[in-house]
Amino acid sequence: MGYFRRLVRGRGGDRFASGTPGGSILSGSADDDFISVRDVDLAFGSRIVYDKLSCSMRKGGVHLLLGGSGSGKSTLLRMLGGLQQPTAGEVRVAGQLVSGLRERELGQIRKGIGMLFQNGALLDSMTVLDNVGLPLREHTNQSTSEIADRVGAVLSAVGLEDVEPLLPSELSGGMLRRVAFARAIVMEPAIVLCDEPFSGLDPLNVTRIEDLLMRMNRDLGLTVVITSHHMASSLRMADQIILLRDRNCIAGSPEELAGGDDEGVIEFLGEDGRAYLARLHELEGAPAS
Ligand SMILES: Nc1ncnc2c1ncn2[C@@H]1O[C@H](COP(=O)(O)OP(=O)(O)OP(=O)(O)O)[C@@H](O)[C@H]1O
Ligand SMILES: [Mg+2]
Repeated sequence: MGYFRRLVRGRGGDRFASGTPGGSILSGSADDDFISVRDVDLAFGSRIVYDKLSCSMRKGGVHLLLGGSGSGKSTLLRMLGGLQQPTAGEVRVAGQLVSGLRERELGQIRKGIGMLFQNGALLDSMTVLDNVGLPLREHTNQSTSEIADRVGAVLSAVGLEDVEPLLPSELSGGMLRRVAFARAIVMEPAIVLCDEPFSGLDPLNVTRIEDLLMRMNRDLGLTVVITSHHMASSLRMADQIILLRDRNCIAGSPEELAGGDDEGVIEFLGEDGRAYLARLHELEGAPAS
């Protein structure tokens, strides 16, 4: 029985902790440099997005990309997924070079990576069943009924029932978001790259998606990289914050960044973030700033 079916039946607990998600080459490497960006430059014409950007992400970690609009969050996610090549520098995922690979070579790596795009990117002419089942049809030999079963289970896990025959145009914004998220995780990938997973969701569904990501992180060792303006949720989840600014980044745990004296960081976290970090300080016995 698949992970999502067990999850929906309420039996997906700690006993899956030894799972090897993705079942691909991405399950092979274990270290703090699971995802590594080294001295990356990227420019679109005269617009410089990154200038010697370097950062690392840990296997099984939850990494939150923050930064102003246009700072390069979505572009970084696309680069990790091999959809955007840097102008210079190196991007590695699980020890595998992603930058500079050809499409055919990237296929193997992408099998282990689930991507939720900022704009959803569902195929308008395909039903929900076909959209969510697409990665399974592309990358596995599962039968039509096995795929339908897995798709039904993952849709239940994101709080959607009986939507399989519908077209994207027949769904609400929040439903579309969850269908796109279901497609990103249906392969039980080793890594999920989520661009604004909470946008357009009501509070109940924000909690539902947050819980699901955290459970997959705990049960399957899923490495999560998200961008989010939903500060309270994303800070609660994050092991590491990577704040993109000035064509580069500043990175650290929420605690480290909160404890630092960088006004810009605290400013950026906003009211939600500051309230969260103030609570964190209180819990640690330090005076809240
Ligand atoms: N394909 C592209 N062609 C040209 N410029 C691009 C392309 N993709 C991104 N850019 C530029 O790169 C910069 C970073 O864009 P990106 O979408 O990564 O920002 P972001 O941090 O995700 O912003 P937001 O918070 O608004 O989603 C922007 O200046 C954008 O105009
Ligand atoms: Mg973006």
